[in-house]
Amino acid sequence: MNYFITGGAGFIGSSMADALAKDLTNKITVYDNFSTGFEEFLLKLKSLENVEIIRGDLLDESKLSDAMARSDFVFHFAANADVRFGLKHPRKDLEQNTIATFNVLEAMRKNGIDKIAFSSTGSVYGEATKIPTPEDSPFPIQTSLYASSKLAGEAMISSYCEGYGFTGYIFRFVSILGERYTHGHVFDFYKKLMQDPNELYVLGNGKQRKSYLYVQDCLRAIFAVIQNTKEKVNIYNLGTDEYCEVNDSIKWICEYLNLSPKLIYSGGEHGWIGDNPFIFLDCSKVKSLGWHSNTSIKDAVIKTVKYIEQNKWIYTARKGEANA
Ligand SMILES: NC(=O)c1ccc[n+]([C@@H]2O[C@H](COP(=O)([O-])OP(=O)(O)OC[C@H]3O[C@@H](n4cnc5c(N)ncnc54)[C@H](O)[C@@H]3O)[C@@H](O)[C@H]2O)c1
Repeated sequence: MNYFITGGAGFIGSSMADALAKDLTNKITVYDNFSTGFEEFLLKLKSLENVEIIRGDLLDESKLSDAMARSDFVFHFAANADVRFGLKHPRKDLEQNTIATFNVLEAMRKNGIDKIAFSSTGSVYGEATKIPTPEDSPFPIQTSLYASSKLAGEAMISSYCEGYGFTGYIFRFVSILGERYTHGHVFDFYKKLMQDPNELYVLGNGKQRKSYLYVQDCLRAIFAVIQNTKEKVNIYNLGTDEYCEVNDSIKWICEYLNLSPKLIYSGGEHGWIGDNPFIFLDCSKVKSLGWHSNTSIKDAVIKTVKYIEQNKWIYTARKGEANA
């Protein structure tokens, strides 16, 4: 199979590229503008004959369409993946997530490609009324521009499935942790603790409850769905059977780093406008395919800290607001 991976230089996209490239009968095209992705994640892949790396932007429609020629299956991971800063630049999520997804779908249509896997988010459920939240839960109210833009992407994909006979795999992820993680709360806490090991500023009251999934478990879940489901539109939550408080995560990080900082809370149930204080997805649908996560949230947090610790270049090189 010829796979086209948008965002293939990012955290999850490059991990997917690695997984697919192991099968030498696969051909992989990584398409990325390196806005938050890294050449370093592609070092091994660069030397493989079955991998092509193209530096390009999803907003460059003709480059995207040319690059996609001869592909069979598109993994669409590229996005502005930072939820928190949406209100600072309201157009960014629309352009990088919604319009970019439209461009991907159009490039597929022009090239006769009809299979797409899309990284959406559990944030589309907003402040869910039903927890654990199943895929068919109502979600009329969006709380972030990021989730709105992803939901619009989901909607367009399902319309292309209906209208042009595409098959769509839509994954609503909880937060993903693990090797090559470059943004999110573990990164932020690690960075703050390196700057001041005695004090840690925490957004909200620390009691926000969140679920997390280890990146390799996430990839296995994606493969389980793609290999075992054949609906026109296949929508799956990807998460674990656990959740933890932000305070638990802080405790594990500090224990691992052997630090006891004074915790200073900004206060309130929400860490920021649009932060959902309780995210816990019902993943029985993906589990019915025989998949289950192998890594606990605690282990995933520790693996992530270890990775950042061993790859300090990320800590300084991270581009965008997550490093602001
Ligand atoms: N990491 C998580 O916890 C999480 C949770 C839910 C959903 N997701 C989604 O999963 C996907 C991957 O997330 P990630 O954590 O790997 O993020 P990431 O920032 O590491 O990867 C995104 C990649 O897309 C590239 N990119 C961004 N805009 C582009 C554009 N216009 N043209 C070409 N390339 C572009 C970036 O350079 C980067 O390599 C995203 O769609 C994100 O919204 C991630």
